[in-house]
Formats: sequence, C-alpha cells, structure tokens
Amino acid sequence: MTTKTVNPKLRNCWHPVGYANTLPADAPTHAKLLDEHIVLWRSKDGTPHAQRDLCIHRGTALSLGWVKDDCIVCPYHGWRYDETGQCVEIPQTENPNIPTKARTPTYRCQERYGLIWVALEEPIYDLPEIPEFEDGSWKIVDTGPYPWKSDASRQVENFTDFGHFPWVHPGLLGDVNRPVVPDYSVEIKDHVLHYTVVRPEAPNSDDFPVFANEDVQTPERRSRYELHLPYTIVLRLGWGGAKGMVYFFVSQPISADACQGYCIIGRNYDLDQPDTVLQGFEDTIFDQDKRIVESQRPEMVPFDLADELHLKFDAVAINYRKAMGQQGLT
Ligand code: FES
Ligand SMILES: [Fe+2]
Repeated sequence: MTTKTVNPKLRNCWHPVGYANTLPADAPTHAKLLDEHIVLWRSKDGTPHAQRDLCIHRGTALSLGWVKDDCIVCPYHGWRYDETGQCVEIPQTENPNIPTKARTPTYRCQERYGLIWVALEEPIYDLPEIPEFEDGSWKIVDTGPYPWKSDASRQVENFTDFGHFPWVHPGLLGDVNRPVVPDYSVEIKDHVLHYTVVRPEAPNSDDFPVFANEDVQTPERRSRYELHLPYTIVLRLGWGGAKGMVYFFVSQPISADACQGYCIIGRNYDLDQPDTVLQGFEDTIFDQDKRIVESQRPEMVPFDLADELHLKFDAVAINYRKAMGQQGLT
C-alpha cells in the first residue's frame, strides 16, 4: 500500500492506457492512470473515448456496462452518458429534465501507434513523431505489455540504462567481457533528451536471431535515443548498414508504485519472421529486468542527485533527473 501521490503536472501529459486492439468496437474496458479509474469505449465510427469510470448516480463502475447508440450505459440502472460525459437518459423517470450534475468527467483520448492515449488535463507536449511507423514499409511488432510494481520513472530509466546490459542480459543485449560504457553526451532540448551511443553488444543468440549483426564476432550497436519526458523513448538503432530498428517504449503511470510498459518495435529487415520471435525475446529481457527494478528503493526515481551515487557513465540518469525537474514533473 503506497502513501505517495503523483505529481499533478503528469495529468497534463499524454499516457498510454492500452494497446488499441484490446479495446473492442462494442464493449467498454477499464484502465487506471495516475490513480484515476477510467472507462474506455468506442463510438460507432471507432473513435475511442475516455471518461471517469464512475456513475454519478450510485458510484458504479461504468466499465461494467455496455455501449449503445454512441453512449456508455451504466449496468446498475441503465443511465446513459454520451461522448461528452453528459447523462442523456434516466430510465426511472418520465421527467425529461436531466440534472446538469448528471455527467461524468471526460478526458482527452486518441489512438496512435497502435495505442490508446489519454491526457487527464490539457496536454503540454505532443506525441513523438515516428514516420517509420506510419509509412507502411516497416514491419511493426507489439510486445508486452509489461506490468511492474515500480514507478514509471524506474521502468523508463531501466530501458535506457547502458551499464546493466552485460550483467542482467548477458549474451542477449550485452557482452560480459566488454562491460565498459563508451563515452557519450546528452543534449536536453525542451522536454526531450537526445543522445547517441555506439556500444558493444552480444552476437545474436540462436534462440532469438533478432538483430542484424550477423557474421561479426564482436558486434557494435549504434543507438540514437530520444527520451521524451516524462516516460517515452524513441530508439533508432543499426549496425552501420541499411538495416535498422525503431524501438518505441512508453510506460503507463498507474500509481506511484505501479506502471505498465509498452514496447513497439519496427524494423526494415526480416519482414517475414513471425512476431513471436521478437515477442519472446522481449518477454525474456523484460522478465530479467523486472525483479531488479521492483527491488529498487525508493520505488520512484529520486530526483535529488545527492540521494544516489552517479558516475560519468550515468549521464542519461543524471540528465533525466535534471530535465524532469526543469519541466516541473518531479
Ligand atoms: S449507479 Fe449508475 S445508473 Fe444507478
Ligand atoms: Fe534491461
């Protein structure tokens, strides 16, 4: 049980609440974001809607109800709410005047990159642009989602932490004989951290032949990162040739001690490889990370630099803490 509260400014950011293909055309689903319970549903044209998952009448979860005529219907007494959150039908009375208080708060909602996104208040940042995901020539694979008992900041930081690869993912992401993190520098532009690193990686394993580093004994990976505050990473990686991958990782802040990661991978090679190979690879990687990150204390990244011991190779972590502070997100 946590007593921590989330920073209210996080309500002004877009966050994912689920893969779009898990929100059916004709039934509501439930999601939790920043301690708010949300009902998600689609109108007839497929547009997703997000509202507080609470009927004003007796506090029932609207997500237990159903969708009818572009309204969400409460399962208890059948009150109907339209996409603006206004209650438009109360079956128990013949009085046509519906109290203005009969409504449920409605949140900004959009579908992009195969995810449903919600902003609880007016968003201050746009979603990152990823042309590779929208031009049709890249193969896109959804992996996860990965629910962890940690703050979203810890999950994001883990995804971009270079020093752990040989230790937590030996033979899959790192080579234990080459543990030194190469020099790199981080540039902060508004709410985005930019950094590029060329680092040692493990040769492809037989179980998971997912990277285009074939025929090289000591392969190196070139990774260009954008870390969009607060919890989104766009990573473009390659091996010096035309073959490339885009990793899009974003963590849903559920509570101060719970998050869910979505990792969407695009690539321009091995287009026929079954999705299950990359999905199995990421399931293994995220499983290896989960027990480490869930053990970290405090559950949320401490934004005071004096609270931990940072070395030069931790420049991403240091700048993440600084930038989150500058943007008022800590
Ligand atoms: S509790 Fe929702 S209609 Fe009564
Ligand atoms: Fe990891």
